[in-house]
Amino acid sequence: MSEKQNRVAIVTGASKGIGAAIARRLARDGTAVVINYSRDAGLAEQVVGDIEAGGGRAIAVAADIGSASGLPSLFDAAEEAFGGVDILVNNAGMMQLSPIAGVEDDAFERQIAVNLGGVFRGMREGARRLRDNGRIVSFSSSVVGIYQPTYGVYAATKAAVEAMTHILAKELGTRGITVNAVAPGPVETELFMTGKSEELVQSIAGMNPFKRLGQPDDIANVVSFLAGSDAAWVNGQVIRVNGGVV
Ligand SMILES: NC(=O)c1ccc[n+]([C@@H]2O[C@H](COP(=O)([O-])OP(=O)(O)OC[C@H]3O[C@@H](n4cnc5c(N)ncnc54)[C@H](OP(=O)(O)O)[C@@H]3O)[C@@H](O)[C@H]2O)c1
Repeated sequence: MSEKQNRVAIVTGASKGIGAAIARRLARDGTAVVINYSRDAGLAEQVVGDIEAGGGRAIAVAADIGSASGLPSLFDAAEEAFGGVDILVNNAGMMQLSPIAGVEDDAFERQIAVNLGGVFRGMREGARRLRDNGRIVSFSSSVVGIYQPTYGVYAATKAAVEAMTHILAKELGTRGITVNAVAPGPVETELFMTGKSEELVQSIAGMNPFKRLGQPDDIANVVSFLAGSDAAWVNGQVIRVNGGVV
C-alpha cells in the first residue's frame, strides 16, 4: 500500500497542463484530489472522470486563486469532501510576456495577484490548516536564473515564490510539514505554447541537452516524490526540473 493512500491533496489549476498531470499522478498514488480550475469546468470534470474511472477519488472545485476567497474555499471544499488536507500543490499560474516598458498596469497586477498572491494565500492557508506531516509544493520557473527579456514581471512573481518557500520551510518544520518548490523549464502546455511560432518552439526545445520540451509528466513525477514520505528530509528546496538547461 502506498504511503500516500488516505491522504488528501489540493492541486490548484488542475484542469489542464502540468496541474492535470499532477492530479492524475497523485490519484494513482492513492491520494484523494481536489481539482481546482477557474474557467473551464468541462476540462476539470474530465480529469475527475478519468481519476474515478481508474478507481481514484477526486472532486472539481471552481475558485479564482487570485481572489481573497479562492484558497480558503478550496480548503473548505477539501475538508468537507475528504475530512482534511495533507498536500497543497500551488500550481496554477499565468504568464503575460512583454518588455517591461510595455507592461500595462492591469497585466502587472493580475500576474502579481495570481502567481504571487495565490501562492501566498495558499501558503498561509496551508500553514493554518494542513495536517501534521503535510506537504506544500509551489511553482517557480527556470526563467528565474535565466533573466530573458520580456519575462520581467512573470520572473519576478516566481522569484518571490522561491523566497517565501525558503522562509515558510523554516517556519513549519516543527510540525513535520515540508515546503518546497519546483522550477520547470519549458513544458509543452497551453501556457508555454500560446503565441510562439513553430520555429521559436524548436529553438527553445534545443536549449537543453535532450533537445526536447518537457512534458507535464516530467514535472508530475517530481511533485509526486516531494509529496510522499521519501521526501520527508527535503525541505526549503527549489528543484529545477528542466533537462539541464540551466
Ligand atoms: N509550461 C511551462 O513551460 C512552465 C514553465 C515553468 C513554470 N510553469 C508554471 O507551471 C504552472 C502550470 O503551468 P501550465 O503550463 O500547466 O499552465 P496552463 O496549461 O496554462 O494551465 C494553467 C492551469 O491553471 C488554471 N488557472 C489559471 N489561472 C487560474 C486562477 N486564477 N485560479 C485558478 N486556476 C487558474 C487553469 O484553469 P482555467 O483555464 O480553468 O483557469 C489551468 O488549469 C504555472 O505556475 C506556470 O507558471 C510552467
